[in-house]
Amino acid sequence: MTDVAESSVQASEPDEFGYRQYTLGGFMFHRDEYFAHISWPTGSHVLSIDAFLRALQRDCAWDFFYGTVNFDDVIGTVNHYGTVDLFAGRYNDSYRKAELDHTENFPTPDIQATFKAMLDDWTNTTFDPFASPEETAGPWGLKNGSNTAAVTRRRVAAQRMVGVPGDEQIRTDATHPVNRMFADVSQDEPEVHANPGFEGEVAGFSLYAYLSRSDVTWNPSVTSVCKDSLFCPTTEEYILPVIHGNDRVEWFIQLSDEIRWSVDDRDTGSPRAKVIMRAGDVAAMPADIRHRGYSPKRSMLLVWENASPGLPELIATGKAPQYPIDF
Ligand code: PHB
Ligand code: FE
Repeated sequence: MTDVAESSVQASEPDEFGYRQYTLGGFMFHRDEYFAHISWPTGSHVLSIDAFLRALQRDCAWDFFYGTVNFDDVIGTVNHYGTVDLFAGRYNDSYRKAELDHTENFPTPDIQATFKAMLDDWTNTTFDPFASPEETAGPWGLKNGSNTAAVTRRRVAAQRMVGVPGDEQIRTDATHPVNRMFADVSQDEPEVHANPGFEGEVAGFSLYAYLSRSDVTWNPSVTSVCKDSLFCPTTEEYILPVIHGNDRVEWFIQLSDEIRWSVDDRDTGSPRAKVIMRAGDVAAMPADIRHRGYSPKRSMLLVWENASPGLPELIATGKAPQYPIDF
């Protein structure tokens, strides 16, 4: 599988900036010192390279996520869980009306291989696309080394829960020092007193201590699982690098500090709501929106996902509602 996917990558030799240019179907990608340039049969587009790499990093690490990952208001992907649409202008009212939008569908391994090759090639030694802007140097300039360890970080994905024997383990100073903005977070862990015979089955951990040691931003990781119900907490700072258009309802619980959300129509991008979430606030994002978060200081957010594979179809065909609850 890997060989097939890798051989599907169409890349040039390094150009005058030192970076390879990539072709995926009718789409062409190249970068220079400041920008990513994307072209397709009916148009072209430019994004700042920092924003492009931060979005690309998440699309790769999340295996195209739930539904739509907009890199900005023009470029993005839609996950069909097996294949992926790469689009330009498809969810932009003006491009649609002018009939300038363009979409192509690819087997997931092919687009994944191209995106991963481009991310690794275009990320210089000094840049970490998962880090907050304060905690990384810039991505600018001519090709200068690589940062493969950062762009291929293993994603935390608990099978049951962090701390359960054999599952994801709690974080320590040795691997995950406490973040500068969470120095005041208690590092106490719960005491677990299991009845004899149940020692291997009962576990507890401090989610706040765990999150205070996260070295990445805007990267939900699975810390506990109950059937299709996934708790995906994350630490946030600056701007969510993608504008997420969901194919299902998603719940947010603000665990600390504050995030501002800009909520727009999923298909046209027209504004729908501004949501300010402060510690303790709970919100449900409906299934027909796109959203982007702004976190002025590092904050903790619990994203609660329903990973049931049948959901997008039920919602798209009207058998399940776009919103989470009737009062
Ligand atoms: C989201 O799209 O809901 C999302 C993505 C990444 C985050 C938080 C929320 O870190
Ligand atoms: Fe979302």
